[in-house]
Amino acid sequence: MAKNRVLQYSSEKQGILSRDPLSLDEEPEILSLRPDHLGDYVGQAEVVETLEIAIAAAKKRGEPLDHVLFHGPPGLGKTTLAHIIANEMGGRLTVTSGPALEKGGDLIGILTHLEEGDVLFVDEIHRTPRTVEEFLYPAMEDFAVDFVFDKGIHARSHRFHLKRFSLVGATTRVGLLSAPLRDRFGIFRSLDFYNESDLIQISTRSAALLGIAMDKEGAAELARRSRGTPRIVNRLLKRVRDYAQVRGDGSIRKKTVEAALSLEGVDGLGLTDLDRRYLKTIIRFYQGGPVGIEAIAATLQEESDTLVDVVEPFLLKIGLLTRTSSGRKASEAAYLHLDIPLIPAMQKKQPSLFES
Ligand SMILES: Nc1ncnc2c1ncn2[C@@H]1O[C@H](COP(=O)(O)OP(=O)(O)O)[C@@H](O)[C@H]1O
Ligand SMILES: [Mg+2]
Repeated sequence: MAKNRVLQYSSEKQGILSRDPLSLDEEPEILSLRPDHLGDYVGQAEVVETLEIAIAAAKKRGEPLDHVLFHGPPGLGKTTLAHIIANEMGGRLTVTSGPALEKGGDLIGILTHLEEGDVLFVDEIHRTPRTVEEFLYPAMEDFAVDFVFDKGIHARSHRFHLKRFSLVGATTRVGLLSAPLRDRFGIFRSLDFYNESDLIQISTRSAALLGIAMDKEGAAELARRSRGTPRIVNRLLKRVRDYAQVRGDGSIRKKTVEAALSLEGVDGLGLTDLDRRYLKTIIRFYQGGPVGIEAIAATLQEESDTLVDVVEPFLLKIGLLTRTSSGRKASEAAYLHLDIPLIPAMQKKQPSLFES
């Protein structure tokens, strides 16, 4: 099965040398909406500045870039940055992910094929098995891997030197990363949700690339409904484009966005059906909380990882959800948004004085 890919960045745009077909989550069209240069990367000003300086300095010294770790919810541009780094450094990019690295051998195979200045991108790096992770330490620190031959008293170890490469890691859960691994990254940056003007800029750029006409109000409405996430803005743009071409005159205005997205179940705040079911579960089943994530996941019949990685970060960001030591709580704003009357605290089930 396709586990990793090598992309060759040459001076012409993405002269892609692909060992394996593109993985499913990267349709060719999405790839073309992906900016190739830091200059085209919208928003995340501090991250971009850190990288600009680090890349320029590494190039000046003729050294590979320090290892970089990106943290943030899905769709905010971590993979895109890995592509950009390889491109800006003029190295090849090898793409793999934590769960794909099942055995130490999988990683060693990749590491020993890296050339000087190559970039190895490990997505979902927090899901790398511990036994594999141990090979990463000397690889990152000393550019070496230690092979062990034979077992028991005949065991011999041999140190194999690697070419100097840069590791770019991405994770949605930095808390699950072991401290020794985290500490081996020279650069660590968290990506935050994008503001409306960044998203307008991204959707306008994408609309131009896709050859669709969109006015300012249309772009603003799309941006407001995209959960602060570039991947969502691009995805919704395509749905709105379909709608505009079939039901409208082909151009995108505020009305087109509203009509197309209400069909998609995306509301005025950008919440999806899953977001609303999540909040309603807390409110209806658990009296607004606090309630533990496992209980919510069980009621919703969803993976708790999906809720933690995909649903919660944005709800927390816009204040519809709070997290306390005793669990998740829906905020007043959540009741208001869902049009559910707030139950006065007194009416909530109170533990009786007579219960022991
Ligand atoms: N800063 C950005 N500027 C423009 N487009 C972006 C930006 N970040 C992400 N995108 C778009 O969003 C899509 C998803 O980003 P991606 O890097 O795959 O997210 P992640 O790896 O964090 O899940 C990309 O294909 C790209 O088109
Ligand atoms: Mg990604």
